[in-house]
Amino acid sequence: MIEYRPLRIALLGAGSVGAQVARLLLENREELAARVGAELELIGIAVRDVNAKRPEGVPAELLTTDAETLILGADIVIEVMGGLEPARTYILQALNSGSDVITANKYLLATHGTELFDAAEQVGAQLYFEAAVAAAIPIIRPLRESLAGDKVNRIMGIVNGSTNYILDRMDTAGLSLEDAMAEATELGYLEADPSLDVEGYDAAQKVAILASLAFHTEVPLDHVYREGITKVTKEQMTSARENGYVIKLLAIAERIAADEAGEQGVSARVYPALVPREHPLAAVRGAFNAVFVEAEAAGSLMFYGSGAGGVQTASAVLGDLVSAAKRHVAGGPGLADSVHANLPVLPIDRIYTRYQITIKAKDQPGVLAQIATLFSQHGVSVETVEQAVNPRVPGEAPTANLMVGTHEATDASLSAVVNSLAASDAVESITSVIRVEGL
Ligand code: NDP
Ligand code: HSE
Repeated sequence: MIEYRPLRIALLGAGSVGAQVARLLLENREELAARVGAELELIGIAVRDVNAKRPEGVPAELLTTDAETLILGADIVIEVMGGLEPARTYILQALNSGSDVITANKYLLATHGTELFDAAEQVGAQLYFEAAVAAAIPIIRPLRESLAGDKVNRIMGIVNGSTNYILDRMDTAGLSLEDAMAEATELGYLEADPSLDVEGYDAAQKVAILASLAFHTEVPLDHVYREGITKVTKEQMTSARENGYVIKLLAIAERIAADEAGEQGVSARVYPALVPREHPLAAVRGAFNAVFVEAEAAGSLMFYGSGAGGVQTASAVLGDLVSAAKRHVAGGPGLADSVHANLPVLPIDRIYTRYQITIKAKDQPGVLAQIATLFSQHGVSVETVEQAVNPRVPGEAPTANLMVGTHEATDASLSAVVNSLAASDAVESITSVIRVEGL
């Protein structure tokens, strides 16, 4: 029997995600009330244009452009508008009036998360954000709750579906980056500004959120190292396939052990990397997402599913809504985060990784030794070398292609090797440099 008063829900946004939240909230009203112990009453939906065409399931009479009045009358506010402003102002307004807030807005959280969490803490309100990273995949709650007693050491994920689709099509259909991007655009996978996806900004926002949660440390977005997929070539894809790898855009959050100076910290980074075909992340195809978590006691865990889509994202939003509503009914604390560890976010130079470097070199005595010396001068150990002699071009000196795989070394040493190779007269050109992860 439901004895608690109806809870008033304000929805900010009725786009891809908001329209599905509204539909599911209204369609499943009775079931949700039974689960929560209170009716969830959708009191209004704030949009920019009340006359715009909406999908079925969004009642026109609930639409308003007056978000502020809507927020003031709500117990729980769901923000699925996106962008920094006015989303930030509305969320602060909601929290300051004591409402719990649910948001799917990774950009806002990665940019103003500290301010929003502080505001929530001050008034004892809660901020839920399961949908902000990898949409339907439950990853925030496992990090906030299930793994709260463990020590997470590393997270490696594919958290951007559109770039995974593009790389997958390059790998499996042999498409060029441009053709694969055109397909992804056609399918509506890319953001309105595609650079958010292909330059790695979207993944950087998500890894900043994951790293903050996993390491109880504030990870500002501008401390996340970021490289997108725009420099990945068809030739690199082919070479990866021939050598038992696949190229994935990885989002990595990692604890970094103390160096000689005793400085330890965390790293958050996004870059394309070679992943061995037998690694679980290599099997993530199309626009799917997956997050691989390594924790001290739990060991390796993999979370897999849809990382985008209106209805999929709405599922995560509604999960948060049920949690928030139950907290209202039962009282007591909700989910809380802490940044007590306060570890420094270290630059890319400090991380340990491996490089695969492909060089076009002169095919003559002493060249291999010269190249090997450059690696050893920077303290980088070579693991594999493969040489293929290029067909002779009449009138030109003979050349060979060398593919060098390194052992693990600091990114600073590895990039110093690349710079020395570029300056060496033994090397005609460097044709590919790519990191290797997951070995
Ligand atoms: P859409 O652009 O489809 O929808 C945005 C909605 O917000 C629209 O209804 C729009 O109104 C409304 N809106 C925007 N600005 C204002 C404003 N100033 N005042 C009032 N209403 C406003 O976005 P999505 O639904 O795709 O995304 C929403 C959020 O969810 C974003 O933060 C996004 O990053 C996140 N997200 C989205 C995923 C997806 O697959 N789409 C996946 C995971 C997260 P109107 O319709 O009148 O223009
Ligand atoms: N642009 C994002 C992606 C949408 O491709 O994964 C989900 O955040």
